Amino acid sequence: MSEFDISIMPGDGIGPEIMEQALGVLDKIAKKFSHKFNYKTVYIGGCSIDKFGKPITDETIATVLSTDALLFSSVGGEKWDNLAQDMRPEAGLLAIRKAILGYANLRPIKIFPSMESFSTLKPEVISGIDMIIVRELVSGIYFGEPKGVVSLPDGTRKGFNTMAYKDYEIERIAKIAFDLAQKRGKKVTSVDKANVLDVSTLWRDVVSEVHKDYSDVELEFMYVDNAAMQLVRNPSQFDVILAGNLFGDILSDEASMITGSLGMLPSAAIGGDVGMFEPVHGSAPDIAGKGIANPIGQIITTAMMLRYGLNLETEAEAVEKAVADTLKAGYRTADIFRESNKKVSTAQMGEAIIERI
Ligand code: IPM
Ligand code: MN
Repeated sequence: MSEFDISIMPGDGIGPEIMEQALGVLDKIAKKFSHKFNYKTVYIGGCSIDKFGKPITDETIATVLSTDALLFSSVGGEKWDNLAQDMRPEAGLLAIRKAILGYANLRPIKIFPSMESFSTLKPEVISGIDMIIVRELVSGIYFGEPKGVVSLPDGTRKGFNTMAYKDYEIERIAKIAFDLAQKRGKKVTSVDKANVLDVSTLWRDVVSEVHKDYSDVELEFMYVDNAAMQLVRNPSQFDVILAGNLFGDILSDEASMITGSLGMLPSAAIGGDVGMFEPVHGSAPDIAGKGIANPIGQIITTAMMLRYGLNLETEAEAVEKAVADTLKAGYRTADIFRESNKKVSTAQMGEAIIERI
């Protein structure tokens, strides 16, 4: 038996509903594989603003750092949209990413069998898609200084951010990408805008240097605009996509649509003191509280936590298989419902998956 402390962040919007199902999954795993999971609930984002007056507190950060992993749902909503940038729910998310230093954001893009028809792309274009986006998560333009909005003497206003990377920040994320590629399709596509940006010149240089230790992995460079185009033209050319924070953010939303449902994609932030695991989708305030949200993204994210955060590979596979089996059996939440399927609520989907573990 192993015992783990897990920070649980239910969050905003649909967060609490889908997290409830993820916890049901964890309870079942604990029982079946004789583990003990101790949950510590923490609040980040809108729920923290409501409770404590700010998007994250020092106590929350300390709690998370004292546990083995952070299972995160999603943050944000209209209610907090007009707050200053550093008081918005998203600021809490960025602060916890930075605090745990989980610089490598892994975003796998895979289509569940029986879900192919949900892609907006043609079946022959998406067949066999299996890629992973490795997004740098704690630097780049999201955190670069200087930044701000200022009024100039002539009365014009200027807003600015800085896209900056230090060599070691590029080196460590590149290593993660090459290590992953070695265990997969042995190809890394490094995305940048080196035809325009100086920061991308350094990015290319460092990635090339790191590549010298990985002679079995093919490396190609691609401009981000071309990558955006190639993702819908011929996505099966990609194995591991390596990108900075902003480019990775944008490309991962685009790539999610290859699968047809943003509601079913997981992500992990690793490399730091504590692994952080969050679905790629947001808090979906428009459907919050209705019991119709798709919990699969959160549940697959929980599988990623078992795999990368707690080193429980068999347990992770058991969860993924249960999800695949449930989909094969025809269970669908509203977002992925088609006639001839069984339409189920958030809770029913959770139960159907838990039953199959
Ligand atoms: C994501 C989200 C976040 C990001 C937002 C909510 C700050 O879009 O995780 O992809 O841009 O990193
Ligand atoms: Mn995003």
